[in-house]
Amino acid sequence: MMYNSRITGMGFFVPDNVVTNDNLTKMMDTSDEWIQERTGIKERRWIPEGSDETSATMGAKAAKIAIERSGLSKDDIDFIVFATLSPDYYFPGCGVQIQEMLEMNTIGALDVRNQCSGFVYALSVADQFIKTGMYKHILVIGSEYHSNGLDKTTRGRGVSVIFGDGAGACVLSRTEDSKKGILSSHLHSEGKYADKLIVASPSIKHWVPEIIANEKEDVSYFPYMDGTFVFKNAVVRFSEVIMEALTANQVRPEDIDLFIPHQANLRISQFIQQKFKLRDDQVYNNIMKYGNTTAASIIIALTEAWESGKVKEGDIVLLAAFGSGFTWGSVLMRW
Ligand code: UT7
Repeated sequence: MMYNSRITGMGFFVPDNVVTNDNLTKMMDTSDEWIQERTGIKERRWIPEGSDETSATMGAKAAKIAIERSGLSKDDIDFIVFATLSPDYYFPGCGVQIQEMLEMNTIGALDVRNQCSGFVYALSVADQFIKTGMYKHILVIGSEYHSNGLDKTTRGRGVSVIFGDGAGACVLSRTEDSKKGILSSHLHSEGKYADKLIVASPSIKHWVPEIIANEKEDVSYFPYMDGTFVFKNAVVRFSEVIMEALTANQVRPEDIDLFIPHQANLRISQFIQQKFKLRDDQVYNNIMKYGNTTAASIIIALTEAWESGKVKEGDIVLLAAFGSGFTWGSVLMRW
């Protein structure tokens, strides 16, 4: 017997500290006008200096809300999948920290390393474990602590203005209703372009002593992005993987009740919206408030949309993402 998986609870957490575009002009040569025009971002949340908050702690807060809303207890959860590009440690991953922080049973915990596509990948991994009958309830988390690792000088402005901190989580649960839940997931990658959006160090090749020795000039431990190249690939791959989901499920663009694109750049979301001729009420964006929170963006947006009554029983919900790797993917579900 094959089961289906559906989201039974969702939650998100963002730091209180709001950083406006004007705040950024005090750190680097940029402007509110440039940032809004090129990205749609008005402000983002950054963990303040000196705080103990991390990707794991934010993930734990979002997870607690998701579990509570699912009506389950932490002891009902069978497995953890944690997506992040900004883990607390190089190893072990954040998944095991959640197991500890939430005082869960010694269940399995897996970290997914797929950057902006992290949540879509994580959700599809969890979906497979549920479909085969191995697990009943899986905690899926996306969380990012970008702000401590960004180059906040003019040198890094092409990257640092777009990223924000935050976490989202959901509980994915078994259902025997074959018409509900995740209907398909489609995943892709193209490692040829790994160096187009990358944090090259620390790595086994460029280890910490080397970084410290070269601190002043070595920019390889800051995120590097060939923004224009990434943008061009994003619009193509987003379109392809959305088409793949629609075709596989014989769903037309006008049938989509809610489309949540990874919040990379408002211009990318708007391009996709126009391409598929989606009405404003079919698309949910919140990059204006939170910036690009990478693996957390889709689940933060989905939770927010759900909290404001935009997701109803029976709705067709489409998630799609593209990012570093390159990796991209889509998940189509019926709520
Ligand atoms: O999250 C997953 C994957 N990521 C994405 O999908 C992001 C994709 N890329 C983008 O969103 C855009 O490429 C950016 C928002 C990152 C950059 O926008 P752009 O329109 O591609 O700008 P650009 O990099 O071509 O830069 C245009 C100009 C340059 O000046 P010159 O050479 O024309 O004089 C930059 O130096 O804008 C300058 N610039 C800035 N100016 C003020 C770059 N960053 C800034 C800044 N403030 N923050």
